[in-house]
Amino acid sequence: MAKRTSLHGLWSSRLAFILAVSGSAVGLGNIWKFPYVAGANGGGAFVLFYLLCVALIGLPIMMAEILIGRRGRRNPVATMRIVGEEEGSRPSWALVGVMGVIAGIIILSFYSVIAGWSLSYVGHAALNRFSGAGAEEVNALFGGLLADWRVLAFWHTAFMILTIFVVARGVERGLERAVRFLMPSLAVLMVALLGYAMINGDFRGGVNFLLEADFSKLTGDAMLAALGQAFFSLSIGMGAIMAYGAYLPEGTSITNTSISVVLADTGMALLAGLAIFPIVFAHGLDPGAGPGLIFQTLPLAFGNMAGGHVFGLLFFILLTFAAWTSSIGLIEPAVAWAVETRGRSRPASAIAIGVVIWLLGFLTILSFNELADFRVLGRTLFENLDHLSSNILLPLGGLFITIFAGWVMAKTSTSDELDIGTGGLFSLWRFLARWVAPVAVLLVFLHATGLLGWFGLAGSAG
Ligand code: PFF
Repeated sequence: MAKRTSLHGLWSSRLAFILAVSGSAVGLGNIWKFPYVAGANGGGAFVLFYLLCVALIGLPIMMAEILIGRRGRRNPVATMRIVGEEEGSRPSWALVGVMGVIAGIIILSFYSVIAGWSLSYVGHAALNRFSGAGAEEVNALFGGLLADWRVLAFWHTAFMILTIFVVARGVERGLERAVRFLMPSLAVLMVALLGYAMINGDFRGGVNFLLEADFSKLTGDAMLAALGQAFFSLSIGMGAIMAYGAYLPEGTSITNTSISVVLADTGMALLAGLAIFPIVFAHGLDPGAGPGLIFQTLPLAFGNMAGGHVFGLLFFILLTFAAWTSSIGLIEPAVAWAVETRGRSRPASAIAIGVVIWLLGFLTILSFNELADFRVLGRTLFENLDHLSSNILLPLGGLFITIFAGWVMAKTSTSDELDIGTGGLFSLWRFLARWVAPVAVLLVFLHATGLLGWFGLAGSAG
């Protein structure tokens, strides 16, 4: 088969690709979301189940996504259609790509608002507002931010402009440069923060919370949250990694790359948890505080440590950058689709799609103030957008992707792309992709809806 070439250029090296994919994977999901979702779901058992999801479901699906992307070399919608047809299946596989594009748009609409919080905290840190602060001051600062939708809208707008700017510049000039220095710096800072938590926080309390598994807390909902978090954190299930895979040169090892990215991403999440919970417990805060968790705990640390002014400033700058390199991945499938099929230029596509996402962001903004009491299915608008995208659309997308790679694509097609031969390692991947990942995703779905109990397969669902 003659190989297609990407219409958007290629990554300049294997390292560039690893950095881009880990840049997309490591973001608010690791540092903002993982700790609060783990906290809200009781800690240890959730974390253990999360790790299982990452290893048994996340890794094989990430490999599947990259290999499909490189084979198709188009935006996720076209790639799924083209590769589907080549493998003798239906063009309607394109719908998986469509679902991914939609998921990316929904996620970025709230992701950008939270990244806006981080941006505004860059400002607070620069003005030394955390200095000497206690829990009350820190809560007041955060509450003040959420209370005014105009302030939230301002920072959300600023972040969307940053995102559109990089995506408009394209793969090489835009995406690659942005990630090269940021990822390593963020890791260094997290390690330093961990050091602080070890010395000044309730480290034992934090570690116990994260590692002591109380399985009575692992309800169906908690399992779904862990599964959704694994997809969200690894950026899989929506075609972002597929779009990045489309720019991957032939001959780069998909297996090694995926393993590196999964390790980096999981390492960052655990580091964040280990740094944050000791501070939470040392100050008698609530680990289940929700989306404000890091914004209410980290300033306490920064405000009371030597050099906290500079350190806090650096932290929120890097967190914003981590969000930035992820937001690029969220919008890229939609932009690549618009460039390829609507014949628009990259900048025009990035702006048009960016505006749609920006508007959608107001649902999240208002969820924290004017519409805070407005509930659908017992959740705020933000919680619904998050739940729908992270816990439903991403696992569903991942389910289709792994079925596609494991069952629709010929064995030779996948082994061609994976370049790990056809021996044990390949068989292991294929077994995970064909059986373990799809069955596990289905079971978690069933468990969370209570249907598993209905079939008499489990006691109760949360
Ligand atoms: N993985 C990102 C994070 O953990 O913050 C979020 C994300 C980025 C999800 C890109 C999906 C995606 F395509």
